[in-house]
Amino acid sequence: MILVTGGAGYIGSHACVALLSTGEDVVVFDNFCNSSPIALERVQKICGRPLTVVEGDVRDQAALEKVLTQYGCTSVMHFAGLKSVQDSVAQPLEYYDQNVIGSHRLLRAMQATGVRKIVFSSSATVYGTPQFLPYTEEHPLSAVNPYGRTKLMIEEMLRDQYASDTSWAVAILRYFNPVGAHESGLIGEDPKGVPNNLVPFVAQVAIGRRERLNIWGNDYETPDGTGVRDYIHVMDLAAGHVSALKVLDQPQCFSVNLGTGAGSSVLEVVRAFETASGRAIPFDIKPRRAGDIDAYYAATDYASKLLGWSATRSLQTMCADHWRWQSSNPNGYA
Ligand code: NAD
Ligand code: WQD
Repeated sequence: MILVTGGAGYIGSHACVALLSTGEDVVVFDNFCNSSPIALERVQKICGRPLTVVEGDVRDQAALEKVLTQYGCTSVMHFAGLKSVQDSVAQPLEYYDQNVIGSHRLLRAMQATGVRKIVFSSSATVYGTPQFLPYTEEHPLSAVNPYGRTKLMIEEMLRDQYASDTSWAVAILRYFNPVGAHESGLIGEDPKGVPNNLVPFVAQVAIGRRERLNIWGNDYETPDGTGVRDYIHVMDLAAGHVSALKVLDQPQCFSVNLGTGAGSSVLEVVRAFETASGRAIPFDIKPRRAGDIDAYYAATDYASKLLGWSATRSLQTMCADHWRWQSSNPNGYA
């Protein structure tokens, strides 16, 4: 049995599909602060198999110990946390509380119950300003905002814990830019309020919930002047988690990139989404967004060697699947 914290969220729900599809049993632990229980009903529909849902907060160590013991969990996938860079600048204490303290309580609960296998959702944000590209896993680590600092602190906590007890098995997965949805269109990303991220915003323009996209800058050092990122299909990402879990059969601690290795510009994403949806995406060029960098993308050699995994889905597939979800659920899970 695998405990999936934050399993109702965007990436967690897709990971649940990947886990259930490979025959694993899953118990989701989520407080639904940024998700809907409907996502988990849909996951079960897609897989034709049940999962267990427990509502709770990862900062509640006693509740976690109870779940780990009651369901005989042998490993944990830890997605629960807050993820908005902007909000983390406005409310840093909330981010340290939910992300850092939440992860600490989870590790305590695992230690108390003898569960020592964990896959953690980290982010390419831990590489900070690029000193070279692609980012390899050896790229120096730094954080440029409170959200990034929480991820870096949790990574350090995990490495320290493994150093103190090498019977642990720890996978730190550094995601690049997850987009897309399960090919059924039944589950997908459902941001609350105005989306900060590019693809959810573009999708809401395509469906008519927003009038125009703001492109934050076209004077970057990139081929067309707009920002370049490594977008990865969320189902490729989910498959990467299943591969990481297999590798954790042996005690070890590793950090690995989950990206495609290829960068796409904002304008390329807009064009791919227009093709996928058959809708025009009107946009305005606006000044740069604070904190944004020109370009970043992943080195992928280590993931292929260590996990035997690599991303397979194209930008076109990411947009087509994202659009299937958005067009069949114009208001998300509401
Ligand atoms: P999400 O907000 O959709 O999912 C997070 C889930 O955790 C939600 O279901 C939320 O209700 C739950 N949660 C939050 N705080 C909790 C708490 N204290 N106790 C219990 N449950 C709680 O986000 P996501 O995009 O699925 O991201 C999942 C993880 O991956 C996060 O840790 C995020 O930082 C990380 N990550 C995301 C991205 C991205 O671009 N989406 C990139 C890199 C890393
Ligand atoms: C992508 C590109 C924008 C919105 C963030 C976090 C990162 C990780 C993934 C969690 C950039 C441009 C965007 C819009 C735009 N999350 N853009 N108009 O900033 O690369 O990464 O999400 O770990 O930590 O920082 O992703 O989707 O916000 O932006 O022009 O309305 O799209 O400037 O070039 P980002 P994004």
